[in-house]
This record gives sequence, C-alpha cells and structure tokens, in this order.
Amino acid sequence: MKNRILKILKGNDNYISGQSIAKELNISRNAIHKHIQSLKELGYSIESKRSSGYRLINSINFIDSLEVENKFKNSLFAKKIIHLKSIPSTNDEAYKLAEEGCDEGTIILSEKQTKGKGRLGRAFESSMKNNLYFSILLRPKLSPAAAPKITLLSALSVVAAIEETSNLKPKVKWPNDIFINDKKVCGILTEMKSETDRIDFMILGIGVNVNSSVNDYPNKFKPILTTLSDEERRLLPRQQIFEKIITNFERIYATMKNDEFSEKILKKWADSSYLMGKKVTVNNADNKITGTVIGIDESGFLNLKVDGKIKRVFSGTIEVVG
Ligand code: BTN
Repeated sequence: MKNRILKILKGNDNYISGQSIAKELNISRNAIHKHIQSLKELGYSIESKRSSGYRLINSINFIDSLEVENKFKNSLFAKKIIHLKSIPSTNDEAYKLAEEGCDEGTIILSEKQTKGKGRLGRAFESSMKNNLYFSILLRPKLSPAAAPKITLLSALSVVAAIEETSNLKPKVKWPNDIFINDKKVCGILTEMKSETDRIDFMILGIGVNVNSSVNDYPNKFKPILTTLSDEERRLLPRQQIFEKIITNFERIYATMKNDEFSEKILKKWADSSYLMGKKVTVNNADNKITGTVIGIDESGFLNLKVDGKIKRVFSGTIEVVG
C-alpha cells in the first residue's frame, strides 16, 4: 500500500488531498495518514498541509527504494530491496531470508538498527538516522577461501563510491574498515554459510556514516568515528552513494573468480590503504605480531615486515603502534 501511495505522490507535483488518495486506493483517510507517517519515518520527505493535503519533496537524505529497484531491474543486485524503518540487524535478517531461499542480490536496507553487528562479536553503532545500513545477499560460486576477497573488494567499492560523490580521500584499514582523517566512517561485516568446498550463501553487510553528525553521537564515539557530511562539510546524496556502492561492487563481483587478485586491484588497494607503511600490532586468537605493513598479496593476506622477514596475516584486529 505504501508503494501505491508513493506512486500517487510522485505523479503529482502539487499537493494532493488525503481524500483523493483514499478514494483512489479505496481505503480510509486515517489509513492514508498512518501510511504517510511511516513513509516519513523511512526518510521520505512529505509535506502535509491541513487545507491542501500531501506533497512529496525530494530530499538529500531520502532513498526511494522503488526508484532504485527500477534502475537496477536488469542487474543482479538491488532488483529487490526490503526497506525498513528499524531492525535489530540487516545482516541477521538477510541471513534468515537466505536460509529460506531468497534470491541472490536481494538487499535489506534499514534506516536504523537496534543491534547492529560488527566484526568479532562487537556492536556497530547504528542508532543515527541518515546513514546507510544495508546487507546484500550473495550466492557466489566460489570456495570459502575466497570469502576475504569479497570483503576486500566490497571495501574498494565503497571507497570508489565516496570518491565519486565527494572530494574526500577515504582509506581502507585492512580488512574491512574505511577511515577518513584517522576516524572510522564505514564498517563491513561478511557472514557466510558454507560447505567444505563451496559457499552456500554470504551476507555482505555495509554500514556507512553518511549525513549524521558525530556531535549527536554518545561521547565515547566522538574521538573514533566520523561521517561523510562532517568531513565534507555538506550533506551528501544518500541514494546516489547507495547506488554507486551497488554498481561498483556488482561490476567487480561479476568478474570475481576463485583465483587471485589482479594487479589492478592490488594497486587500487595499495593506493587507498590506510595501513601501508604503518607499524602495527595484529592480535588474533593465538598470537600477537608487530611489524610494518608492506602490502596485501594476491590472496588478500596482509603482509608485514617483521625483523626483516615477511609475515602473512589472514585475520585479526589491527592496532597502529607507530
Ligand atoms: C565492523 O565495523 O566491525 C563491521 C560493521 C558492519 C556494520 C553493518 S551495518 C549493516 C550490516 N548489519 C549489521 O548488523 N552489521 C552490518
């Protein structure tokens, strides 16, 4: 019903009365009022005037998921977008839908999350509106060993989307964070279900701080987080960034094989790497290694120089120490 109301609003540049919409859709004015309220909560900017009715205003924060679906109708991703006001975690929802057999490319997009998940069981702050919190359901015909590659390539897609819509220079902090001016602006969490030799499905969850302001976050986040609008000092078109991430990632995903990273991708990664040349400590389940980052290799491992020798790191948390 919400979609039908939206279609009517889009077809009218001027105000349209609640009564006309109600008549056209054969529901009560009160029901129209409730649907309009929930569209507003989804970020649609709808002006209401007692004497004239409702009018849709295009706003920079507004994601018209129907329009996005339409633009992507011939693509693999985003043909279907489940756009929600709030949910505990888009990754959990996508995982559940994947288990029920939902199609590859379906996207769960939520205006807020109440239990956003980060890597290593951490929470991901997602209570602010005007950001992007979404998960893409993937069914790659790849072995589980290729999973880190998907995470790394998705990070490059986000970097490119930010570069294409702003003057910012985002950096990838291996494996899955994106930083601007030493503060985190995006986190990526991939989760998967797999057999020994093949991925059953994978959920790629992306959270980007777009147009919220860090001033509104709880104090503990202020030194470590940033948002695109805080950095760029203007609001950025949220839908455009969303579409660009999908387009960029779909292009890379289509060419993805089990084999290794291409020279071009490694160069792009090196150019946008936050850690390159930095001294870091990598903590993982059973050890701690300190060394200088010299790159990533064809398989997506972080390469460190430790006492003149090259060590390859597959996973862990990274602390910059110098
Ligand atoms: C991290 O920073 O460790 C990863 C954060 C990933 C956050 C995104 S937001 C959309 C999706 N749903 C989640 O619950 N998490 C991911």
